Amino acid sequence: MNKQPKRYLITSALPYANGYKHIGHLAGAYIPADIYVRYLRAQKRDVVYICGSDEHGTAIPIQATKEGTTPQAIIDKYHEIIKQNFADLSISFDIYDRTSNPIHHETTQEFFTYLNDRGELEVKETEQYYDEEAQTFLADRYIKGTCPNCGFESAYGDQCERCGKALSPDELINPVSTLSGKPPVKRRTKHWYLPLNKHEAWLRNWILNEHQNDWKTNVLGQCKSWIDGGLQPRAVTRDLDWGVKVPLPDAKGKVLYVWFDAPIGYISATKQWALNNGKDWEPYWKDKDTKLVHFVGKDNIVFHCIIFPVMLHLHGYIVPDNIPANEFMNLEGDKMSTSRNWKLDMQDYIDDFIKKENGGPQLADALRYYLTTILPETKDSEFTWKGFQDAVNGELVAIFGNFINRTFVLMHKLTHGKVPKFHNDIADDKDKAMIEEIKKAKTTVETFLEEYKFRDALFAVIDLARSGNKYMQEKEPWIKAKQVDANGKVTEEAQALIDNCLHVCLQLSANLAILINPFLPNTAKKMLHMMKVVEKMLDWENAGSLKLLSVGYSLRAPELLFRKIEDAEVQYQVDKLKKGLEASANGKQQTAVEETASNFEELKSEIVYDDFAKLDLRIGTITAAEKVEKADKLLKLQVDLGFETRTIVSGIAQHFSPESLVNKQVIVVVNLAPRKMRGIESQGMILTAEQPDGKLILVNPDAATFNGSTVR
Ligand code: 2FM
Ligand code: ZN
Repeated sequence: MNKQPKRYLITSALPYANGYKHIGHLAGAYIPADIYVRYLRAQKRDVVYICGSDEHGTAIPIQATKEGTTPQAIIDKYHEIIKQNFADLSISFDIYDRTSNPIHHETTQEFFTYLNDRGELEVKETEQYYDEEAQTFLADRYIKGTCPNCGFESAYGDQCERCGKALSPDELINPVSTLSGKPPVKRRTKHWYLPLNKHEAWLRNWILNEHQNDWKTNVLGQCKSWIDGGLQPRAVTRDLDWGVKVPLPDAKGKVLYVWFDAPIGYISATKQWALNNGKDWEPYWKDKDTKLVHFVGKDNIVFHCIIFPVMLHLHGYIVPDNIPANEFMNLEGDKMSTSRNWKLDMQDYIDDFIKKENGGPQLADALRYYLTTILPETKDSEFTWKGFQDAVNGELVAIFGNFINRTFVLMHKLTHGKVPKFHNDIADDKDKAMIEEIKKAKTTVETFLEEYKFRDALFAVIDLARSGNKYMQEKEPWIKAKQVDANGKVTEEAQALIDNCLHVCLQLSANLAILINPFLPNTAKKMLHMMKVVEKMLDWENAGSLKLLSVGYSLRAPELLFRKIEDAEVQYQVDKLKKGLEASANGKQQTAVEETASNFEELKSEIVYDDFAKLDLRIGTITAAEKVEKADKLLKLQVDLGFETRTIVSGIAQHFSPESLVNKQVIVVVNLAPRKMRGIESQGMILTAEQPDGKLILVNPDAATFNGSTVR
């Protein structure tokens, strides 16, 4: 969309109300959307931000069985928890609805009927597994059997959790029903399909043509491989009793597939929002001037880029302008996983930081800050507790907080707690350069935000605060204050220099409040209080102004914007994580039903042989290994490659003792560009693989061979 849209409809993926949600979810679809929405609101644009709980699908009854309760009790419980978690982390939805809302059932049924009445759906009868004892057809997740690919005996009907292969129930060897434990039988059943194959040309043009330049590469890549892989009709109904009923007389016992109803949840939640606020929902979904943006994690790309847009297109609704999906966020060197209990739930962070003494909204901003700096925008990223501490203490406290605090302290000390005048006649190059930087920052941050580059946008704000510190350091108003006359009064000349510095620093503080507001709304609010100004000052159009605080206006005493994260807090969290993992491995937290494919990384996109041939892999022998000082994770290895010995720094210290590695043969990537780690140049990489408990093992040849031997 090139011209300025008339209105914005922003959505974040509806989380399943089947359990606690972790910070990986938060970083994927909620933090970026909230930043974007707060920015648009500050721009005074017409924007509605939609979300809610996804309360259907087999995930809900499965969780109910696990907790020994009903599906209704599960959604009621987790809907409230998740909704409150988002509020505690200052995610500012205009509505957080739920798909059990009757409006949603009506909207979804109307959608289905509309498509069906116009012949846009196909009906097919197929044979599917049926549990005679439980008298029910079996959804894929309710069938287990042996994986035809790897022989794992507890593979699910849709996926093998050991080898990661996507399966259909028919492929399982010796299938059994998880409800009765008995082998199921085949029965004929009728289902409705959305023939995606008929819409290939439209999708190709819309995605790969119209959006080839403005969608993210990771998103385009996934779409292309789906389309090139051949689109198939997708069943939109299921034999299940939990969900939105199929609105046809001959569809008893059938519900609409959760992925048919969930995205329609965005529409029904918009209707509910409109009802609550006396607005009209229709322009948001029907007027071409609306810019629709879906924020989702990478596992939701295909549904938001292919399936839902086809549905919207067929119903005559607008289609999304963008889907700036993120990759995954790992935790302390490992994939976040609910089943292995390797995760940080929003609830845990809230309990351990926000709700503690010395906590409060500033700690919500601290998490928002760190997560934004490590958003997996282009590749998977990594949350570490040490990283969190460094970001908060080294950037929020030491750069941003420090600048604001110094400015306010000095203003109270040197300019009577009032905004001093700016003496134009004595402005020097440093003042002018700082003023220029303040003026330019707005466009820089804005451009990044419009392009969904949230990390860069935040870094630009921090850079501005950093410049403020440097400017103040160079101007040294506290030194100027020592130039006193015979009566001990600061000389007029020196006072004018002090005034100029503090005037600029105060206007910069006001600018920083505006620019940080989308990212750290609680911080911006606190700054408004200190500056005794109203919320209106945060309007985006005010950024760049040097007249935000009036000369002579008295401001409040500084309050600390952020507190430091203590070493003990970091240690406590790391220990807690490890204990959680142990407990889970010991079976205490072992869940009856594992999370989908949580132990498998997503397959990377296809490469051609030439891509592979670029890698130079050789056999080498580790001849020495030692720990790297002050780096818990690193080992320094000497690897004999036959033609030379190389130093390789490897992040495996938590998995191997140095002694255990010596004399082991390994596979080495020898043509990786050298990289410095802790001051040591690493000249290659050794290959490892993961065991089920997350421990790493070496990958080595199955018989000894000569060092330098090529691996292909
Ligand atoms: O993956 C999930 O958690 C889904 N509940 C997301 C649904 S997004 C949308 F379609 F509602
Ligand atoms: Zn398998």
